[in-house]
Amino acid sequence: MRLEGKKIILGITGSIAAYKAAILLRLLIKEGASVQVVITGAGKEFITPLTLSALSGKPVISEFFGANDGSWNSHVDLGLWADLMLIAPTTATSLGKMANGIADNMLVTTYMSAKCPVFIAPAMDLDMFVHPSTQKNISILKEFGNNIIEPTEGELASGLVGKGRMEEPEKIVEVLVNHFNSKKSFIFQCLYRINIGGLDGRN
Ligand SMILES: Cc1cc2nc3c(=O)[nH]c(=O)nc-3n(C[C@H](O)[C@H](O)[C@H](O)COP(=O)(O)O)c2cc1C
Repeated sequence: MRLEGKKIILGITGSIAAYKAAILLRLLIKEGASVQVVITGAGKEFITPLTLSALSGKPVISEFFGANDGSWNSHVDLGLWADLMLIAPTTATSLGKMANGIADNMLVTTYMSAKCPVFIAPAMDLDMFVHPSTQKNISILKEFGNNIIEPTEGELASGLVGKGRMEEPEKIVEVLVNHFNSKKSFIFQCLYRINIGGLDGRN
C-alpha cells in the first residue's frame, strides 16, 4: 500500500469525467490513503455523494452550512488536515475560480486554505481547453506552485477528438505515489548528508 497513512482531499467538479473520480477514489483507498471528498454543486449532478461516501467511508463535503442547525464545514481545518489535495476532474469554471480567488464554494475555499501540495487534473472539451482564458488560468495556477496533471488527447464525451480528456485514474495515482516517494528520498538524502557531515566533521 503505497499511500499508507496519507491524508488526501479529493476535489470533484462538474465535468462528465466525474465518473472517473469513483475509480480514482477506489484506487487511493486501496493504496492505503485516507480520503475526504469535497464536491461542487455541479459535481453532484454527475456523481452521487452516496457512491463517494460509500467508497471513502466518510460523509462527502459540499456545502458550507449544515441543515439549519448552526453547523458548518471548516475549510480551514480540512486545509490543515491534508497531506495533499487532488482536484480531479477540474472544470474550466473551477480553474478560473481557483486562479482568481473566487471562493464561493467549499471546494475553492478548501483549495485556498490548503497548506499542502495541490494537484489539478483538468477535463473539458478541446475548444474549452485551448481557449486563452483556460490557458491563462492554468499558467496562473502553475505560477502559484500547483501541479497540473495534463489532460490527454483522444475521443471526448462530446464525440470530438482532441486534448481535454482527464488523465486516467491509474496514472494519476502513480503521479501522487511518485510525489510522496520523491519527498521521502529528498528527506533521506538530507539525513544522509547530515550524518556524513556529522561523521567527518563537515556540516
Ligand atoms: C453534460 C455536461 C458535461 C460537462 N462537462 C464539462 C467538462 O468536462 N469540463 C468543463 O469544464 N465543464 C463541463 N460542463 C460545464 C460545467 O458543468 C459547468 O461549467 C459548471 O458550472 C462547473 O461548475 P464547477 O466547476 O463548480 O463544478 C459540462 C456540462 C454538462 C451539462
